[in-house]
Amino acid sequence: MSTTTLPSSTRRRFLARAATAAVLATALAACGSGGGSAPAAGGSGGGDKLTMGFAQVGAESGWRTANTKSIQESAAKAGVDLKFSDAQQKQENQIKAIRSYIQQKVDIIAFSPVVETGWDAVLLEAKRANIPVILTDRAIDSPDTSLYKTFLGSDFTVEGKKAGEWLVQKYQGKTDPVAIVELQGTTGAAPAIDRKEGFAEATKVAPNLKVVASQTGDFTRSGGKQVMEAFLKSQPKIDVVYAHNDDMALGAIEAIEAAGKVPGKDITIISVDAVKDGMTALAAGKINYIVECNPLLGPQLMDLAKKVKAGQEVPKRVLTEETTFDQAKAAEALPSRQY
Ligand code: AHR
Repeated sequence: MSTTTLPSSTRRRFLARAATAAVLATALAACGSGGGSAPAAGGSGGGDKLTMGFAQVGAESGWRTANTKSIQESAAKAGVDLKFSDAQQKQENQIKAIRSYIQQKVDIIAFSPVVETGWDAVLLEAKRANIPVILTDRAIDSPDTSLYKTFLGSDFTVEGKKAGEWLVQKYQGKTDPVAIVELQGTTGAAPAIDRKEGFAEATKVAPNLKVVASQTGDFTRSGGKQVMEAFLKSQPKIDVVYAHNDDMALGAIEAIEAAGKVPGKDITIISVDAVKDGMTALAAGKINYIVECNPLLGPQLMDLAKKVKAGQEVPKRVLTEETTFDQAKAAEALPSRQY
């Protein structure tokens, strides 16, 4: 079957799955090999130091802050000359940053795409300039997988499924209607699309679990608060909040408390990320369940970049390992939580 006949999200997943199947075994080797010692050929600097241009999404969440720190610290540790830009969640800013990295003739471009679509033209420019591209954290939706060397990050659909499975389990054996409100991530971003899909897939086995309202809070605490305030006014009954990240869940908690309700008791809250603030709220009983999304991608990114620069084979897809937390597990994990 030609993948171009599939709808875009299905096509992206089809391609990603094919690539994942082909590379999973080698992915483990890539993650643990410590191959960061491979020599780099040198780009704009002219020396043997690898130069990386990294176009970050923004600073919208605790997850993103931890991700940025991991990338900056890992670059310094690996002796990578990092050129870093913050796109403030705007695709046009990321495209500008990538074009500027191409002009500067960096050795590698890495970026976490704000949204899934609209990257082909600029990535083709990078390809023509012989600058390899690594996707981190978020995928792009393009049939041309030659536009990037590898994609390092989580499986967001699995994250959404884990959230949905926990809810199905919680209400097992009950048939009363359960009203769910969903706080979506940034519209058009891979984690927003996939976490929504994964959750819907897992909860369809229980028709009494119903998403009664779903809106974007743009992955920010203020966005989550604002949307939750509106939901609390417009919805006659809310049993569950499914937030696509901790920051929006934390914003929702503020709105719920301001409305005189008890988060985690009157309204069940599920979110994704497991950053320190989210885990603290979970351990305190204000959130009920968190699916982890690991932001510490820096070491693997530097390792992959050095391999790519040295002309070594890298897996097309490198998946990060993640777990889930209930309240007891969060209390246990908190003291040693890195982010
Ligand atoms: O792409 C990862 C997502 O982006 C995180 O879950 C969210 O917190 C962030 O803003």
